[in-house]
Amino acid sequence: MYTMDELREFCYRCRKCRLSQTRTNVVFGEGNENADLMFVGEGPGYYEDVQGRPFVGRAGQLLDKMIEAIDLKRSDVYIANIVKCRPPENRNPMEDECSACLDYLRWQVKLIDPKIIVCLGAVAAKNLINPDIKISKERGIFVKKGNFYFIPTFHPSYLLRNEGAKKDAWKDLLKVKEKLKSFV
Ligand code: URA
Repeated sequence: MYTMDELREFCYRCRKCRLSQTRTNVVFGEGNENADLMFVGEGPGYYEDVQGRPFVGRAGQLLDKMIEAIDLKRSDVYIANIVKCRPPENRNPMEDECSACLDYLRWQVKLIDPKIIVCLGAVAAKNLINPDIKISKERGIFVKKGNFYFIPTFHPSYLLRNEGAKKDAWKDLLKVKEKLKSFV
């Protein structure tokens, strides 16, 4: 079993896929390494790549509000992405890039051992829950896999473009809040 620091070092040196050739920084993920709640996005954007931190741009500001909506702080949860390097022009990560990176995320999840993993958007939900998942139909539904409960919801970038979807996302977050209570 690796430690989080060892895992971070592997990621910083990773050359497993083409995204490593164009990245500025690896965005490993950050937060409470003992968190009950973890959020997984798609991949770093421009600001994340520059700063080496997840969700620090506009979508990140909205994610902070989503976290606050369930009475938590960013420092209470752990935030990561399916791929740790920025896809050029913010395109979706390709399948081979996701599968090259997923082992790192799996290790991270094992070390953190959260109760609930919120999948932000289709890329996270497809990679972590089910490749055929339709977020519009299946968001807000918990899926238990191994020791973890996964729940898909809209990606904050989608919510920035579709204000009307926020009320559904907030409903999903309330479910997360309720479920977290069941573990204490
Ligand atoms: N969008 C993501 O999916 N992840 C980030 O870290 C930032 C924006």
